Amino acid sequence: MKKVIVFGSMNMDLCISCTKAPQAGETVQGQDFFTNPGGKGGNQATAAARLGAQTLMLGSVGQDAFGEELVHTLTQSGVDCTLVRRGKQSTGVAVITRTGSENCIIVSGGANLTMTADEVAAELDRHATSGDLFITQYECNLNTVRQSICAAKKRGLYTIFNPAPAHEIPQEVLKSTDLLVVNETECAFQTGICPENEAECREAFVKLHTLGCRNVVITLGAKGSMYLGEQGTCFVPSYPVKQVVDTTGAGDTFIGGLAAELVRGTDMQTAMHFATRASAAAVSKAGAQQSIPTREELPPEQEESRI
Ligand code: RIB
Repeated sequence: MKKVIVFGSMNMDLCISCTKAPQAGETVQGQDFFTNPGGKGGNQATAAARLGAQTLMLGSVGQDAFGEELVHTLTQSGVDCTLVRRGKQSTGVAVITRTGSENCIIVSGGANLTMTADEVAAELDRHATSGDLFITQYECNLNTVRQSICAAKKRGLYTIFNPAPAHEIPQEVLKSTDLLVVNETECAFQTGICPENEAECREAFVKLHTLGCRNVVITLGAKGSMYLGEQGTCFVPSYPVKQVVDTTGAGDTFIGGLAAELVRGTDMQTAMHFATRASAAAVSKAGAQQSIPTREELPPEQEESRI
């Protein structure tokens, strides 16, 4: 069976709600503080595993209580964490301020930034098989991330790159990426176009294509998502949600869900519908990893929403 290999960040999320975000120099009263395992890498791995894929995590935590808890929670979700390193730096943390259903995040990378490209390549040599699916993001050391995509592609893996938080993508990295997944703001960073509809997604893809991108999924929040690339184009509307509680980790859930389906050989449009249902379930609960559904917890398919 082909597996999903995630190289990425593992953070402890420190979440607090407030009715109004503080301005510089201002203190506001918050409420409902909680901690929850997160990190874009850990979230995407959790989603892939809970949604049915054999999933291997590559990453690094500190030798501290947060690191232990992150590994424990991921393992309980079914992610193989035997290769997760425990370094001298402290575990990554993300301070998340929620105002309504929106959030602002500050990340301190800590141990996430310590893994080298040679270490990732060595793990791929030992544990990856051609046809496995590789996912990474931009929350670890940037050069390690960039080189790991090229290393995964060279070894015959299908590569998904989620360049979040947004940083420049060198052309050789884009060429080694089988599928780029960006939200509107990440798309704006890469192309100068912040798409809000299909026409603007098409415009953005023209730019990405000239930079070397072959396939992209652009997520448009409550509007849905659009694929553009070698298989043509398709737009998938979002799944109706009664009440959006917290959007933290919704994009990661989408990516993990997409990976869990693509690795089974599912076509892109069907995989996007599946991932859309997964992220709809995730926004209905608070927190990152604690909101990610299993296959059994997915809302029912909505045939009428297919294009
Ligand atoms: O994408 C959401 C994640 O971003 C959070 O879990 C937080 O850890 C930050 O990495």
